[in-house]
Amino acid sequence: MLLLTKKDIRQVFSMKDAVEAVKQAFRIYSEGGSVIPLRVNINVPKHEGSTLFMPGYIEKLDSIGVKLISVFPRNPEKGKPSVPATMVLIDGNTGEVCSILDGTYLTQLRTGAAAGAATDVLARPDAEIGALIGTGGQAFAQLEALLTVRKLKEVRIFDINYASTESFVARVDKELACYGTEFKAVKSSEEAIADADVITAVTTATQPVFDGRLVKKGAHINGVGSFMPHMQELDEFIIQRADKIFFDSQDAVLAEAGDIIIPLNKGSITKDKFNGEIGQVIAETLNGRESAEEITLFKTVGIAAQDIVTGYQIYQKATEQKVGQEFSFE
Ligand SMILES: NC(=O)c1ccc[n+]([C@@H]2O[C@H](COP(=O)([O-])OP(=O)(O)OC[C@H]3O[C@@H](n4cnc5c(N)ncnc54)[C@H](O)[C@@H]3O)[C@@H](O)[C@H]2O)c1
Repeated sequence: MLLLTKKDIRQVFSMKDAVEAVKQAFRIYSEGGSVIPLRVNINVPKHEGSTLFMPGYIEKLDSIGVKLISVFPRNPEKGKPSVPATMVLIDGNTGEVCSILDGTYLTQLRTGAAAGAATDVLARPDAEIGALIGTGGQAFAQLEALLTVRKLKEVRIFDINYASTESFVARVDKELACYGTEFKAVKSSEEAIADADVITAVTTATQPVFDGRLVKKGAHINGVGSFMPHMQELDEFIIQRADKIFFDSQDAVLAEAGDIIIPLNKGSITKDKFNGEIGQVIAETLNGRESAEEITLFKTVGIAAQDIVTGYQIYQKATEQKVGQEFSFE
């Protein structure tokens, strides 16, 4: 089996590759070409954490996989990532494990790529101003994905922890300089989203992180954070105001995302507000944006199809380019 570190993955796979891989994953998923059970979530209240098991099968690629991913928000105090993960890829011809990948980096890559894919198909082509809310472990890949699919002049960046916002901006000023975008640290979400054409929220918040009444017409929003029924990052106003709402997986979002479950339970929206899955828009069986004035919204909780398709393509490229370390139990 091939062991692939973050460095190996970066060597063979770009964010552009990841956006294409995730588009393929969403399409396969929405067309019924995969077996993706709802993930199993083990709560670990003793350490305020949870560990998720995300299995799946993609027949077309003869690939099976399971990602083991934990969310332990207190880990940074221990100098550890708050969302550590490992991806196990299984050869669908033999059932043998063929690769183990750094799932922490794979998660950042494919989660960024999910918002990148949705932004690519839903945001206005002339989008110029971006807003990023949240500067934690996922944020860098989220920003890189936005810049990969739209030529943004300026991105305003906000986190409730301003020191974190500042150090994040210093990092992206260096590492994402090639995009020629101005990155601005701001002190409120109002400042971040004012006039923004694309907004990505990627926080651990349980209360809405911006005022949906202030979103400009024509904007596209990616909701990436909330993945449990009590977690709400997007407010009811933006869910009500959005002209089109798409999910990565309708089943998963309706089971897991407080952003959608809370307003549904309150009765402030009904299910007919939802347009469908992003995979259908990618497959062109469903219309995405139909006018420059529409507000589009993509809610993602993350599905195993993203990990398996992206992981499989990384494994293929690494094998071709002889990158990674072979390991055998024998
Ligand atoms: N959709 C997916 O596929 C997917 C994949 C991975 C992670 N996630 C989720 O994305 C979220 C972020 O992940 P991460 O690894 O970056 O977490 P993290 O803990 O590293 O960072 C979260 C950041 O959010 C900030 N934050 C919290 N509340 C805020 C608020 N009200 N306003 C502004 N900023 C706020 C925190 O200060 C922190 O910097 C988590 O909830 C995680 O579970 C989703």
